[in-house]
Amino acid sequence: MSTRLNSIFVSVSAALTISVSAMNDLNAKENTWPQDNVAFCSAALDKAEEQLDDFRKAYTNPRKIPTSYSENEVKFTNPMGWTSGFVAGSFWYIYEHNKDASWLETANKWTDALEKMQFNRKTHDIGFIMNNSFGNGLRLIGDKSFEPILMNSAKTLMERYNPKIGATYSWSWGTWEFPVIIDNMMNLELLFNASLISGDKTYYDAAVSHATVTMKHHFRPDHSSYHLVNYSRDTGLPIGKQTFQGIADDSSWSRGQAWGAYGYTTVYRYTKDEKFLTHAKNIVNYVLNHKNMPEDLVPYFDYDAPDDPSITNYRDSSAASLLASALLELSGYVDKNEASRYQEAAMKMLRSLASPAYLADKDENGHFLLKQATGNFPKDLDLNASLNYGDYYYLEALNRCKTL
Ligand code: GLY
Repeated sequence: MSTRLNSIFVSVSAALTISVSAMNDLNAKENTWPQDNVAFCSAALDKAEEQLDDFRKAYTNPRKIPTSYSENEVKFTNPMGWTSGFVAGSFWYIYEHNKDASWLETANKWTDALEKMQFNRKTHDIGFIMNNSFGNGLRLIGDKSFEPILMNSAKTLMERYNPKIGATYSWSWGTWEFPVIIDNMMNLELLFNASLISGDKTYYDAAVSHATVTMKHHFRPDHSSYHLVNYSRDTGLPIGKQTFQGIADDSSWSRGQAWGAYGYTTVYRYTKDEKFLTHAKNIVNYVLNHKNMPEDLVPYFDYDAPDDPSITNYRDSSAASLLASALLELSGYVDKNEASRYQEAAMKMLRSLASPAYLADKDENGHFLLKQATGNFPKDLDLNASLNYGDYYYLEALNRCKTL
């Protein structure tokens, strides 16, 4: 990297560090972050480390990646699958917690196995795959050899960007003209990081455009979101709105709402544009105030699931873990009262998830961490399951809690 670009990266990193320390100062002054939260999250990470130690001993091929556990069966994906980066990412989070050399080696091994995915043109989820593995590696150990890999990954994702629509498209299959799912908000971090690494604003601009267009067309007046918006390549405008994993086209699929809350919090982190902050707050307020949000704050797979035990019995612990992680970050950007509310909600979620109702026992659920996630209800796939992305965001949230 040239000196100039290096200095851009360093100054932006410094700005992020400053905002984190400003956040810490704020909390210190107001004494809002109890040490027992830190102790609780540290202990939960210790427990997760034990479980994942068995996981890494049981699964030793980093190209055969455990993705879920349900009905006594572990399912695997190869590096091409959208969930392939979450295991490497989880190993990075354990390393972040314990700074142990053997976890660094494991994280590097599972990350390296994904290197060819920088040119994977078959998925919009290259952000999940590469940012969670190489991106976390760069963040934690500053390995400069990861930078060109992340740049190539961002270039690959940019091939899906359509300037007329102002968004990147999601699936490369199906009969949609230009499908964009709310999950795509999670791939923007790769683009923001590419601009930080390269100093080239093109990636940043595309990410901001995608977030702006999605805000306009995916969201309803109550701030809930559709899962999928299909756009016309001719007019650049929506031609259909529907669900894919929720209960109905106009329902609120809970993981989708969490992808949105997390995604707009991330976009605010990079842009400091108030409209994205307001939008993130509107989404979390929608879910936290929802009449169907259970007392333990682990949502059913869809906020609009009818009052029918065969449906409402399905929780989605992955929606809770990623929402908890988003809430902890968001709490650093809002006023004191909102911060307390978001932190309390996040801690309640984490305490629920760390309880026996949701956390697998040692040797249970194929060494995954969280139980009671819902993969895809309409397809009857991975119900009452463990999902590697639920575990990833659980570990991320615990690390955020430990260092808030
Ligand atoms: N991105 C796919 C899902 O949330 O299930």
